[in-house]
Amino acid sequence: KNIVLFQSDLLKWYHKNARVLPWRSNPTPYRVWISEMMLQQTRVDTVIPYFTRFMNELPDIPALAGVEEDKLLKLWQGLGYYNRALNLKKTAKILVEKYQGQLPSDVKTLMELPGIGPYSAGAIASIAFEKAVPAVDGNVLRIMARILASREDMNQVKIKKQMQEFMLEVVPLNDPGAFNQAMMDLGATICLPNGEPKCEKCPVRKHCRAFELKLTSQIPIKVSK
Ligand code: ADE
Repeated sequence: KNIVLFQSDLLKWYHKNARVLPWRSNPTPYRVWISEMMLQQTRVDTVIPYFTRFMNELPDIPALAGVEEDKLLKLWQGLGYYNRALNLKKTAKILVEKYQGQLPSDVKTLMELPGIGPYSAGAIASIAFEKAVPAVDGNVLRIMARILASREDMNQVKIKKQMQEFMLEVVPLNDPGAFNQAMMDLGATICLPNGEPKCEKCPVRKHCRAFELKLTSQIPIKVSK
């Protein structure tokens, strides 16, 4: 309905309140990729020092492609899910051998690379390449369920796919990377789970049907998993 106003209210808030994070200054494809892989199962606060050290030790794709496994695992030690680290090196080698040492910019090709799923591919394509594609994670599902006052079960694969489709139309052509990161920040700092969102601070509450209907503590609905 008022998608354009939702976009501009959210972007205006983001440009004033964005969290300052190391991968956001100088968002090269390599830096965005590494940050998204680290952030997949690990909190932002934990990732920050790992990211900085990783960039100092392995500043580019060729360095990562040639790193000793021992060194790589040491850089990753404490982040867990070590397959993520091994996938990084695998992907770096593929990039050097098949893609002139560059990350591809489109979602479909990104998703063919080890460790990159739909969410990460959307994040990389939008943040590093300004492609107007969504990056739908649990935060985005929660925010949009509330905006729409959707009573659907957000754990259902069918509903997640619908939301992915819907978000294709919501991501703006102008500044899609900022839009997606604004959704991440909104989900992390304001549109919190467990019935305690900080709606009084929310930049898009006038677009939020769950807020209007006082349903924010009941939405999103998540049945079993
Ligand atoms: N979580 C996943 N990707 C993120 C990003 N780019 N900024 C903040 N949190 C994130």
